[in-house]
Amino acid sequence: MSAEADALGSPVVDLQLVTVRDLSEEDVNEVTEYWYHSPPGFIEAMGIDPKKLLPEPEFARYLIEKCTANKLLAASKLNTLTITYKGKAIGSHTIDPLVEGDHGIFHAHIWNPEMRRKGIAMITYPKACWIFMERFDLKRILFKTPMQNIGPIRVKEKLGIRCIGEETVGFGIVRDGTLAKVFELTRAEAALRVKAHRSENPNSNRSNASALSRCSELAISPSCR
Ligand SMILES: CC(C)(COP(=O)(O)OP(=O)(O)OC[C@H]1O[C@@H](n2cnc3c(N)ncnc32)[C@H](O)[C@@H]1OP(=O)(O)O)[C@@H](O)C(=O)NCCC(=O)NCCS
Repeated sequence: MSAEADALGSPVVDLQLVTVRDLSEEDVNEVTEYWYHSPPGFIEAMGIDPKKLLPEPEFARYLIEKCTANKLLAASKLNTLTITYKGKAIGSHTIDPLVEGDHGIFHAHIWNPEMRRKGIAMITYPKACWIFMERFDLKRILFKTPMQNIGPIRVKEKLGIRCIGEETVGFGIVRDGTLAKVFELTRAEAALRVKAHRSENPNSNRSNASALSRCSELAISPSCR
């Protein structure tokens, strides 16, 4: 990773150099490395059922075909965005399941552990949500986060994304019977956040967090505390 290191050897991240773009074929090795070769127990602890994963070569082929097919379209319809830092792929946001014209469920994964807890989600969640909102004409985005995942729950709280309750889930590769906190972001809320961010500082990503965090206390309903 090309980030500078602090005195403890942890990368110092310039958040202005963080962005999102469409998934590309070149990212596929890093995606598969994350899902199939993370330290033992990592994906299970997140609430994923490894038995629900496709075999690795099949998953890699699926991603490559998805990118290739997308290139034939006039406008991108990819449901996976790659998070980049200084142009290097470091993670992804996916929206799945997805009901175009209505809603989708949002996911976030920063593949490199050293790049986590540096404020990257504060930049990339709003950016990716807005891209998905526009790309798929969504009315709302849902986040169904396993209760034990305090990191991503904190991200939503900090961004002021409303918690709307709890649900037992088992969609996609999530373990059946997983208790999740459910958050909702409507298109109007997402638009307000984009507008607030742009008017606060048109040239900077940094203000995302402050623009969004003003709503954070309001966003946590009593049932979600
Ligand atoms: C979850 C994830 C996407 C968050 O992105 P991030 O860039 O690391 O988050 P940020 O650095 O912007 O942190 C935002 C807030 O969440 C907190 N946070 C993030 N990860 C945390 C963790 N593991 N434990 C506790 N708090 C955490 C940060 O401390 C910060 O809050 P604070 O300012 O009050 O301290 C990323 O850590 C990740 O990919 N984790 C592994 C995969 C995962 O859990 N995906 C979600 C599955 S539901």
